[in-house]
Amino acid sequence: MSLTLTRTDLIRSANFIAGQWQPGPAGALLPVTNPATGAVITHVPDSGAAEARAALDAAHAAFPSWRQVPAKQRAAIIKRWNDLVVAHTEDLGRLISMEQGKPLAEGKGEVAYAASYIEWFGEEATRMNGEIIPAPVPGRRMFALKEPVGVVAAITPWNFPAAMIARKIAPALAAGCTVVCKPAEDTPLTSLALVLLAHEAGVPAGVLNIVTASRQKTPEVADVWLDDGRVRKITFTGSTPVGKHLAQRSAATLKKLSLELGGNAPFIVFDDADVDAAVDGFMAAKFRNGGQTCVSPNRVFVHASVYDAFATKLAARVSALKVGPASDPASQIGPMINDRAVEKIERHINDAVAKGAKVLAGGKRLTELGPNYYAPTVLAGANAEMACACEETFGPVAPLTVFNDEAEVIAAANDTPFGLAAYFYSQNVRRIWRVAGLLETGIVGINEGALAAEAAPFGGVKESGYGREGSTHGLDDYLHTKYLCQGQLD
Ligand code: SIN
Repeated sequence: MSLTLTRTDLIRSANFIAGQWQPGPAGALLPVTNPATGAVITHVPDSGAAEARAALDAAHAAFPSWRQVPAKQRAAIIKRWNDLVVAHTEDLGRLISMEQGKPLAEGKGEVAYAASYIEWFGEEATRMNGEIIPAPVPGRRMFALKEPVGVVAAITPWNFPAAMIARKIAPALAAGCTVVCKPAEDTPLTSLALVLLAHEAGVPAGVLNIVTASRQKTPEVADVWLDDGRVRKITFTGSTPVGKHLAQRSAATLKKLSLELGGNAPFIVFDDADVDAAVDGFMAAKFRNGGQTCVSPNRVFVHASVYDAFATKLAARVSALKVGPASDPASQIGPMINDRAVEKIERHINDAVAKGAKVLAGGKRLTELGPNYYAPTVLAGANAEMACACEETFGPVAPLTVFNDEAEVIAAANDTPFGLAAYFYSQNVRRIWRVAGLLETGIVGINEGALAAEAAPFGGVKESGYGREGSTHGLDDYLHTKYLCQGQLD
């Protein structure tokens, strides 16, 4: 099956600034490749400070009028954007699969996931309600209004190139903010296509601007936005070290920040779990996008009494997964995003095996398929000394660790600086509420492996960041509260 698009003009090779498709610096081009083959799809600008500044000037100029557009009208534009995204599901799904590598069913699934955020925030635009506060003294009226924070800089990741843009940009537009965006170097094409559709939906010139850049040039773009006081908010999904840098650098102008950073999710199977349901939930949570999600279970703790049953069933399911390119409809796991990703997986597995882990499934590169394929892997006998327990593998690797009691496993699960997601399986209602309260994460899956939804607040605690995406909280992150106090009314 071919991944060609019916609407080929969705593949853009330029920045979008002030309502115009604009080239980047002369001669500075960034190749976008298909991770399944290494073939170049097209080139986009390798932008620098000048393009970042032009985008910011445009967003700043557009803010006063966009914030005044009535919420109902902003909502209508965002809903039209949603309709266009849904109408282009096939093409956008192909584009995601082409540049990111996920199987086409997942690529199209991501379009639906992205659209769900756009639709949600289109609806939320009309619900930016304020408050009337009972005054503590006579003759006064007190109000709290919600206002857009201003220009937002969105720096987005490669693992969900449509969904992560959608859940940052749709709430920003809904709130009345204008946006400058820098998509990930590996997957700029989906973002450019979404911006094209937003423009076609009626988002006015200057309201949404996007510049592409390589990993090397990204700091130059980001520094312009970080240092300029006209940017009032940074929203970022990516690594914790980069998130910390953004927080430090934006401190000089005290920007609002939403940081959705690294995870190290525990997945706990208690002795009273339904083991088959736990295996199903684990497969859904772990192997979505080949394990390249920040909420992917990274450490699997299984009670001694169900360990053998869980490990045997899981190894059988994982061995049966079909790995292959997005263009093969049978593929369930695609290539990893690039060679650095495969090298990290390999390093984690070699380290675990050297420290005593046993490979129950997978455990090798699949070079016969292409440059970036790795077999989905189950490791038995993992422990806290292994790199795979301390660092996010971001690949299809399941390291299993045996445990004996609840307090021990909670301590182990929380023994990480990260706190994005956690999962556990148990059928004991007392334990469910106890454990859910004790896990130090922003998200907990209880007898459930698929957690994300547009109506849910997504985000972490500890070094996994702060701020929430999705839900009513996801709009609030783009607003500030203005207090009005009117006197002399008696
Ligand atoms: C992420 O990996 O950053 C997001 C995953 C999700 O939306 O479930």
